[in-house]
Order: sequence, then C-alpha cells, then structure tokens
Amino acid sequence: MLSKTGSYPAYSGLSTYYVPSSPKSRNEAIALASLRGYNKNPPDCQRERPETTMDARKVYIETYGCQMNLADTELIVGLLKPHGYQPTQVAAQADVILLNTCAIREHAEERVLSRLGELVRHKTRRPGVLLGLTGCMAQHHRERLLDKAPFLDLVLGPDAYRTLPALLAQEDKDEPLVSVRLDRDETYADITPARGEGVRAWVTAMRGCDKFCTFCIVPYVRGRERSVPLAALLAQVRELAAQGYKEVVYLGQTVNAYRDGDRDFADLLRRTAEVDGIERIRFTSPHPADMSGQVIEAMATCPKVAPYLHLPLQAASNRVLARMERGYTVEQYAALVERLRAAVPGLALSSDIIVGFPGEEESDFRATYDFMAEVRYDSAFMFKYSAREGTKAYKWGETLAEEEKGRRLQEIITLQERISADINQQTVGQTVDVLVEGPAKRQQGWLAGKSGQFKTVVFPSTGTRPGDVVPVRVVSATAHTLVGEA
Ligand code: 5AD
Ligand code: SF4
Repeated sequence: MLSKTGSYPAYSGLSTYYVPSSPKSRNEAIALASLRGYNKNPPDCQRERPETTMDARKVYIETYGCQMNLADTELIVGLLKPHGYQPTQVAAQADVILLNTCAIREHAEERVLSRLGELVRHKTRRPGVLLGLTGCMAQHHRERLLDKAPFLDLVLGPDAYRTLPALLAQEDKDEPLVSVRLDRDETYADITPARGEGVRAWVTAMRGCDKFCTFCIVPYVRGRERSVPLAALLAQVRELAAQGYKEVVYLGQTVNAYRDGDRDFADLLRRTAEVDGIERIRFTSPHPADMSGQVIEAMATCPKVAPYLHLPLQAASNRVLARMERGYTVEQYAALVERLRAAVPGLALSSDIIVGFPGEEESDFRATYDFMAEVRYDSAFMFKYSAREGTKAYKWGETLAEEEKGRRLQEIITLQERISADINQQTVGQTVDVLVEGPAKRQQGWLAGKSGQFKTVVFPSTGTRPGDVVPVRVVSATAHTLVGEA
C-alpha cells in the first residue's frame, strides 16, 4: 500500500494560563470594537430580543469550517449541559457566546475576526456576557489573538474543551482565560455530544493528524493522531440507533488511520454494520495512503457502507505532490481509484483540490486539470492555496499572483460543474434509494434526502417520513441535485 512517514515538529504544550491585560485597554477595546460592528445588520435570528428570565444559562455557538468542527460544537454543548447551560440560537439571549473556528485558510480567519467585531456589542449591552473563541484558530494564534481582539474572555484550543465548565465557573473573569494545551490522549470518549435532530449522526472516530502535508496547519492545531476506543464508539452508535438515527458518519482528519490495539478501520466498519437500526455508514476524510485492502474489502462486502468516498487528491502533478509530502504519486492514486471502482460498483467519488501551491507551474496545473477530466469525480471541493504560518510551505512564499490562482480555480470549477452535471444526468431514469431527511428547502410539499452515493434528491412528498428509505425514480438532474418521483 502507499505509505508515508510524517515528521513530528514540536508544538508548545502550554497549559491553561491567564493573560494579564490592563482593564482600561480591555474596556476600551470592547467599546471600540462594539462601535465598529454597531451599524451592521445582524441576521434576523441574532437581532436583540428581551433577556430571558429562565434559570438555565444559555450558550450560543457559531461554527466555522469542517464537519469535525460541527461535531466539536456538539461536544462543547454536551460538556456544558450537565453544568446547567442550554444551547440557544439567539446571541442576544446568551450568557456565553462562542465562535468555534477554522484555521485552514486565511479567509476563514478573516471572517471570524470581523464577526467578533459584531458580536462584542452583546458585551457592552449586557455586562457579564462572555465572548470566546474555540477551535483551530484559537490554537493557531493563541495569545496573538488577544492583541487583535483584546475584548475576548476565552481562548480555547481543540484539546481544551474539558476545561470550559471550570473556566466558566470561576468567580474572577476580569482577565481573559486561555487554554491551548494540546493533549496526545484527549479523545473525549466519555462525553456525550448534544446532537441536533435528524437522521444522520456525526461520530468522531479519531482526532488529530500525523501526516504533516506541507501546506496544512491541522497537525499543528489539532495535534497528534489518536483514536476513540472501539468499544466506546460502538456504544455510542448503539445509543444513536436507539434514538432513531439511521446513518452514522465517522469523522477524523485521516479517519481510515483509525486504530484501537490490533483493530483497524475495517474492523470498525464491520462492527458498526452489525448494529441494528443503523442503515448507512459513511466516513470522512480518508487519506489515500491509508486506504488499505481491508478497508476496501469492508466497503465492498458490507451493504450498509455507502458507495461513496471522499478521497482528497490535492494535485495531480507528481512534482507538486512530492512537495506537498502527500505520500503518493498520481499513478498510485489512479491505481487506488481503479481498485476501489472495481470493488464497489457504482462508487461515487469526491475530492479536494488545491491550485496555486508554491512552485505550481502551468504544466503542473494542466496535469491536475487533465486528471480531473479523466477520473471524473462526482463532485470536488476546490481551493486556492492559502499560505499558513507555521507550515513548511509557508517558508517557500507565494509564487503565483492571486489573479492567476483565481483563473486556475475557475477553470477547474467550470470543468467539475460540467462533469458533475453530466454524471448526474446519466442517473435520469434510474431508481435510487433515498434516506429521507425532511422537507425540501425550495419546493413546498417536497421532501429531500440523500442517495447512497450522497447525492441530494428532492421529490414530491408521498407521506414518507424522515428516516424512511424510499425508492425514488430520477426524472431530471442538475450538477448538484437529482429530482425524482417516489
Ligand atoms: N490552502 C488551501 N487549501 C487547504 N487545505 C488544507 N490546507 C490548505 C491551505 N493551506 C484544503 C485541503 C484539505 C481540505 C480540508 O482543505 O484540500 O483536504
Ligand atoms: Fe493531515 Fe489532511 Fe492536513 Fe494532510 S491535508 S496534514 S492529511 S489534515
């Protein structure tokens, strides 16, 4: 199988500490930041409402970034609930306002900083409200964040959520509380996340990453790879089935690197498939280098494992792949796709692609374009390279102008849209099994759900309920949706 060994740069294992800041400058910062955001029009759900008189303290969390962060938000709420906190969708009613953040691209960080400037007004209007930043960006910038946003009360990295109830219970909150210790053993295996309603549950199987792709900040902000024990995961899944969830999506930065003693990810898939009530199993994101024969075999032989795989490629030039330290060549990746498609009939594939990596020549970009045209992904997440301080590639600087990166990105987006539309078009006339999720967003009286291939399918309601799996005949299709009749 493909292989890669990651280097292990040291990260600072700072434990919880208090950053002194003069109350004057902090108060000024709150007032100033509040003024900046004052005229902005917040969305309806965030407009000021009267304070509630209920006893429970309320926590409002906005989540940025990937599915992993959404799962972490459910974890944070799960951690806070036993301490008397209830989640709220309305920032104006919250005692604690948290932004659970992403550091993967600069744009994500800019959005968070500007949103903080808007949310700080809640502190001026209702003294006692705490404003905090959790997740990858908190870990990435740590104390530097307090220069940019001195009004923050809390800065918490991804391995420090367990400290949150104790931090909130502290009497003296005059100083910002910072907890950014990375913990090689933290899996939160004993914490029950507070999941939203639905048919699909996201279950974190492993945390962190050991791969150290040269463009990526994740190993630095989420720390080393570690898996949740198999028994804990299966107990969680049985509980989810009892609660009525039909689909489980295992999450991890390199989820197929999952390990518990001598049990691997294939064992996890097989054992999960034995749980009654769970109809579908998915996972994201696997790393191509960890896609073992056993995992392919489990996908091929467990009918509950959905025929869909998100298999990030990043680039198709071997020169670029080597500089990214991805651990595979494009030929190895192509052979893996071939093997997967042979083993799992009807397999839908998606990918992540980065354009404009330092040193990417036009010929490298063309290799990526041509490979995408050849492999024909069902869909793809496509990004312009964003230099992240602390990564290896950051030191190489940027070698392309923003406009050129934009041009390359647009080219592959146009290509992919055409391919996605084309592939979906070919399903017209076929019947697909749809796991019904609920009402369709746009059409009244229609339902929406996902096919096994993770395509969104909408169809006129025939009285089926969320959680049902119904055969739907596809009558038309776009690049993003299948339209059907049940
Ligand atoms: N710039 C652009 N895209 C990135 N990704 C990760 N780091 C960067 C970066 N510095 C993309 C990769 C990864 C996905 C989650 O985000 O494609 O697979
Ligand atoms: Fe790890 Fe994925 Fe980032 Fe590579 S791109 S370092 S595998 S999280």
